[in-house]
Amino acid sequence: MAAHFQHLFSPLQIGAVQVKNRIFFSGHDTCLPSSDFVNEALIAYHEARAAGGVGLIVVQVSGVHESARYSSHLLMATDDACISGYAKLAQAVHAHGCKVVGQLFHPGREIMETKDGLQPVSYSASAVPNERFYQMPRPMSVSLIQEVVTGYAEAAMRMQKAGLDGVEVVASHGYLPAQFLSSAVNQRTDQYGADKALFLRQIVAAVREACGPDFALGLRISGDEYDACGLQADEALSAAQALQDELDYISMTAGTSNTYAGAAHIVPPMSVAQDYLQNLASHWKRHLKVPLLVAGRMNQPQKAEMALQAGAMDACGMTRALICDPLMPLKAQGQALDDVRACIACNQACIGHFHKGLPVSCIQYPQSGRELIYGQLTVTKQPRIVHVIGAGPAGMKAALTAAQRGHQVHLYEQTGQLGGQVRLAQLLPHRSEFGGLIGNFERELQRAGVKLHMYQAVSSEQFRQWQQQGDDVLVATGARPFMPVLQAMGDLQVNNAWQVLQGERPSGQHLVVADWRGDWVGLGVAELLAREGYQVTLVTNGLSAGHMLQSYVRDTSVARLYELQVIMIPHFRLFGYDDNTVYGQHTGNDSARTVTHVDGLILCMGHESYDPFADHDDQAVRIGDCLTPRTAEEAILEGLQVGVAI
Ligand SMILES: Cc1cc2nc3c(=O)[nH]c(=O)nc-3n(C[C@H](O)[C@H](O)[C@H](O)COP(=O)(O)O)c2cc1C
Ligand code: SF4
Repeated sequence: MAAHFQHLFSPLQIGAVQVKNRIFFSGHDTCLPSSDFVNEALIAYHEARAAGGVGLIVVQVSGVHESARYSSHLLMATDDACISGYAKLAQAVHAHGCKVVGQLFHPGREIMETKDGLQPVSYSASAVPNERFYQMPRPMSVSLIQEVVTGYAEAAMRMQKAGLDGVEVVASHGYLPAQFLSSAVNQRTDQYGADKALFLRQIVAAVREACGPDFALGLRISGDEYDACGLQADEALSAAQALQDELDYISMTAGTSNTYAGAAHIVPPMSVAQDYLQNLASHWKRHLKVPLLVAGRMNQPQKAEMALQAGAMDACGMTRALICDPLMPLKAQGQALDDVRACIACNQACIGHFHKGLPVSCIQYPQSGRELIYGQLTVTKQPRIVHVIGAGPAGMKAALTAAQRGHQVHLYEQTGQLGGQVRLAQLLPHRSEFGGLIGNFERELQRAGVKLHMYQAVSSEQFRQWQQQGDDVLVATGARPFMPVLQAMGDLQVNNAWQVLQGERPSGQHLVVADWRGDWVGLGVAELLAREGYQVTLVTNGLSAGHMLQSYVRDTSVARLYELQVIMIPHFRLFGYDDNTVYGQHTGNDSARTVTHVDGLILCMGHESYDPFADHDDQAVRIGDCLTPRTAEEAILEGLQVGVAI
C-alpha cells in the first residue's frame, strides 16, 4: 500500500461487498451504447478503468420502465435481453478485481429528448413543469406508481442475475424519486403526498426483497439541488437518514436536471471550486451511519486522500478524472503523481458530447470512449524520424503519440513555450485550469522521449530537406486572429481578443465585444473587461451569448455577465463602425442595428489558419487549426490520428 495514500487505498465494505479502494467511477451516461443494451464499446471503456485500478464502477443509468426513456441512448433494464450485456461487462470488470453496480433510473419529468424527436408524455408526482426541457408532466396514477416500483425491483434482479455486485437507486439530480421527495414538486393529496418518502421507501424495499441482503443496495441523492423549486438540502438529508437502515451506502452529489443553475452542479465546470462539496459531505457524514460516497470536482488523488483523511466521506467519485486518465489509481498507488493527467473540468468532450448525443470522450485524452479503436497504441516495427512543427495541442499530441509508438520525434516551437493558443485561453476569467492541459502534455512528452526544439522557427529550406530525406513532417502551426472585412467609416479604436489577452486596452469606458464563434473567447473577454470596470456590450451573431458552448459552462458564464451588467445582444452580424458607433445587421432579416456611444471595439471573430508552408507542393500532413481553425478537441484528436497512422 502506498503509505502516503493510506486512506485512498484501504478497502471499503458496502454491505456484503468489499471494494479494494476508495476511488469510484460514478454513474455517467456515456452515449456509447447504440441500442438499449450494453455493447462492446461500453465494456472496453469500463474495462480500461478497471485495469487502471479503480475500486468500484457504477454503470450508467438504466431505465426501469418504458416511461423512463429520457434520451435516445439510454440503457434499458426492462427486458431479460439486457442480462447478457451486463454479464459481459461484469466479467470484464471483475477480472481486474474491480466491483460493479448498476444505476436504477427513472427521470420522471426530466426527459431530454426522444428517439423520434417528438414531445413525449412524461410523468411525475404532480403536474409541475420542468424548466429546462419544457415538460408538463402527467401526475402518476397509483397503479403506474406500483408498476414503476415493480420495474425497479425487476431491473435490479436482472442486474443481479448478470453478476453485478449491487445497484443504486438514482434519486439524485431531480429525477423521479427526488420529484416525489420534493415538497415543491410533489403536491399530491394522496398517501404519496402525505408521506413524501413513501415512493422511495417502496422502491428500496422492493429491490431489497427481490435481491436479498448480499446484493449491495445504494442510494444516489443530491445533497443540495441548488434549485429553489427542487429538493432542499434539509429534505435530502432527512430522506437519506430515514432510509439508511435499509441501504448499504449513500452516494451524495449535487444539482438538478430541472434548471440551468442546478444542472451546472451535475458536472461542475472549472468555474466551480475543486472539492466544493467537502463541507456538505462532512455535515452528512456526521448524520449518517452507512458509508458515504461523494462525487463532484475531485480531480487529483491528493485531494481525494485529504477528503478521506478529514473524514468527510468514505469514498471519492473521480469520474472525469478517470475519463481523462484511466490509469490514475495505479499511478497514484505507484507514487507516480506527476504522471497523472488531471482533468481540467472543461466539460467539452465528456458531458459536452453527451448533450450532443455523442459518445463520451476527453479533449486531453481522445482515446477515452474510443477504446475499441485507440485503446492500445501499437509499437512500430519501422521507426521513422518525425518532425512536428508547432507545439500547440495538435502538435503536442501528434508528437507524443508518434513517440509512444517508437518513432524518433522532434517537436519544433518558435516561441519558447509549449501550448499554442492554450496559453491565451487560460487567461480568460475562470479558465486558468485550462492551462493544466499544457503541464499534462509537458510531462508526457518528456516521458515519451520527444526531443523539444524551442525558439526554433522552421525555414522552408529545412522543411524541404526533411522531405527529401524521406522524414515525416507534420505541420501544426496553428492559427491567427481572423480580421473580417468591415466598413471602417471612422477612427474607433479596434483590437482583437489576442491583443486584449496580451494586455492591450482601448481608452475610454464603453467597449463593444463582437463575437462570431459563440465560444469561450467572446464571453471571457467581455467578462474580463467588465471586471476591470469597463461598460461592456457583447454583440454576437449567435442565438444567445456563448451558444456554441457546453451548457453548464455557458450558463454559469452568462450568469456572471448578467451580474456584471454586460449588455448581451444576440442575432447581431457585425458590419462596421465609425468614430463612436458600431453597426450591425439582424441575422434574421438583415435590418440595421447599432450600438452608440462606443469607445472601442474588440473583435472576437475567430481565427484563420497560419500555414507558413502552404505554398509548398508537399506531402506534409496538416493538423489542428493550421488545417482549419476549430478547438483544442479537434486538434488533439487529429494529433492522435496522425500519430497512430505513421
Ligand atoms: C458524460 C457524463 C454523464 C453523466 N451522466 C450521469 C448519469 O447518468 N447519472 C448520474 O448519476 N450522474 C451522471 N453524471 C454525473 C457524474 O456521475 C458525476 O457526479 C459528475 O461527473 C461529477 O463528478 P466528477 O467531478 O468526478 O466528474 C454524468 C457525468 C458525465 C461527465
Ligand atoms: S473533456 Fe475536459 S472535463 Fe471532460 S474529462 Fe476531459 S478534461 Fe475533464
